[in-house]
Amino acid sequence: MPDANGNVSANAFRVGAPAANPTSELKGAHSYDWGMKDRLSRIFDPKSGKTVMLAFDHGYIMGATSGLERIDVSIVPLIEHADCLMCSRGVLRTCIPPTCSKPISLRCSAGSTVLTELNDECVGVQIEDAIRLNASMMAVMVAIGDKKFEARTIRNLCRMIEAGNRYGIPTLGVTAVGQELTRDARYLGMASRVLAENGAQVVKTYYCQEGFETVTAGCPVPIVIAGGKKLPELDALEMAHHAIDQGAAGVDMGRNIFQADDPKAMIQAVRGVVHDQMSPEAALELYNDLKQS
Ligand code: R5P
Repeated sequence: MPDANGNVSANAFRVGAPAANPTSELKGAHSYDWGMKDRLSRIFDPKSGKTVMLAFDHGYIMGATSGLERIDVSIVPLIEHADCLMCSRGVLRTCIPPTCSKPISLRCSAGSTVLTELNDECVGVQIEDAIRLNASMMAVMVAIGDKKFEARTIRNLCRMIEAGNRYGIPTLGVTAVGQELTRDARYLGMASRVLAENGAQVVKTYYCQEGFETVTAGCPVPIVIAGGKKLPELDALEMAHHAIDQGAAGVDMGRNIFQADDPKAMIQAVRGVVHDQMSPEAALELYNDLKQS
């Protein structure tokens, strides 16, 4: 019901007090529109500025991967400990409860499998479906340095960024490693920078032992690292710790979580490293305690 007295009695204008100017602390995000910032703030914890993304999109190129045979059984119990879920639309629609309230980083490039030419991808999910699925981010693989697929995959990224910018949905540029290239700081730094220069709001790449700080320093948007193949738990926690220490804004980790002896304990240990600056040793202790309990 309209209230004509409401504005008559309004007097808390605080004349002289400077207007609050809410902004975003996330790297590179200061000039984004509100919706884009809002989506990013669901992925990156506004307090720590970091994220633990749980990646389980492997099936889109690998089929049923060890640990992901039954996503309803193995992944759903981990959801509560993840800041963001990275998956394909097929798995999202069939296995993930729509009541889970977690932001989704939706795998949007597709086109090949491990049986053929891995980097031969196109835009497999159109923006309308990403919106329908309430995606908070759209992930696109880009094969920098791949003589056959570099240009096509950069075009895929640009197409997705154009569409995402139209609706305020960030795009995650995912660096793939070209056949003749190595995962060193020079390559990863260049690939990450190219993705950011093309407009990716977040970049996913690999950690490298030498010079990773130059990869993050040279990239104007947040970098999250993929975990890669399963490592012993302490090694995986050390990798996450070094990456964060050297400027990464989080992890987008799959196999090192869901293939661990105790995935639920492992994701909590990874959180300790990413959000609470735990040492790898302390996080391993947490892992062992949680595992036993
Ligand atoms: C691979 O198909 C996906 O891009 C994964 O999301 C990515 O590699 C992260 O998973 P992992 O930590 O197992 O490497």
